[in-house]
Amino acid sequence: MIEEKLQEIRREIEEKILGYDTGKALYEFRKSILDNREGKLPALMKEMKNVPKEERPAVGKRINEVKDWIAARFEECEARVHKLEIARRNEAEAVDVTMPASLPQTGALHPNTLVKNELIEIFSSMGFEVYENSEIENDYYNFTALNTPKDHPARDMQDTFYVSDEFLLLTQTSAAQIHAMEAKKPPIKILCPGRVFRSDDDATHSPMFSQMEGLVVDRGISISDLQGMLDTFSEKIFGEGVKTRLRPSYFPFTEPSVEVDVSCFACKGRGCKLCKGTGWIEVLGAGEVNRRVLENCGIDPEEYTGFAFGMGIERIAMLKYGVNNIKTLFESDVRFADQFKD
Ligand code: DAH
Repeated sequence: MIEEKLQEIRREIEEKILGYDTGKALYEFRKSILDNREGKLPALMKEMKNVPKEERPAVGKRINEVKDWIAARFEECEARVHKLEIARRNEAEAVDVTMPASLPQTGALHPNTLVKNELIEIFSSMGFEVYENSEIENDYYNFTALNTPKDHPARDMQDTFYVSDEFLLLTQTSAAQIHAMEAKKPPIKILCPGRVFRSDDDATHSPMFSQMEGLVVDRGISISDLQGMLDTFSEKIFGEGVKTRLRPSYFPFTEPSVEVDVSCFACKGRGCKLCKGTGWIEVLGAGEVNRRVLENCGIDPEEYTGFAFGMGIERIAMLKYGVNNIKTLFESDVRFADQFKD
């Protein structure tokens, strides 16, 4: 009787055990066989009391044999199922490193910054050093020392934001010329990028914009040095073959003063919308440093001469990137900014 039931249990185990592929199901199955309360084997052991006394040792031995066999069989299967479970988990949690990743959002440099960096690179390769000016300036540096005294009509060219009687928001980076000439002895070769402020507001003017000033002072500097430097600069910033032309102009701090045009890089000088049919585009103001300005800074104009130039960074950016309203540069529209990503 007991032997038959033992065989039955063995058969059941052999039939089913390979069908389990989760630890939990296998555990439940094991419980149905070996659990002290609900297991089939312990239930069988209870029947020992019905076995005649003299047969008990043999039957007991036999039950123990089968019990050992069962334990070994389950151990084997548990090891197999454990491996299976690890393999399944690894597969489920696997990361496909070849899958295209969603790229992190990156910013782009502002066109002003791009132009400013490019200008600094061009001019520093010609030996200019960067010299920055503060945005709040003394009236003396912004105007008076630049040969523009209080009653000078040229002050009307720039509508100034005054902070007090004496201090104002920088209206031109030209103020850096005075600071540089006060602080250094010639030879001087500086470049000053900076923000400037004027009460001015339309499609091509903004009350805040950026300029880049340059100043060279040394013995024997003339306007032909300026012309040579401008030719190199124009080709580098606007492309090969771009020419420059100087037109007489007026600035209080330079004498003679010029307005500098570059040949239109869009139509190669033939005339188009960008150059308004003229073939030329105005890009900066320049001139020989006025001897009065040198004197104001304690530099002897008999010994030293120099040239200066100043340009609007937004203007260059608008020309280079085809932006027709200056406000676009200050609106912080991400769709606009995105166009300047590398
Ligand atoms: N400061 C002038 C302006 O804001 C630009 C300028 C013209 C700068 C001639 C110069 C220069 O250094 O020589 O309009």
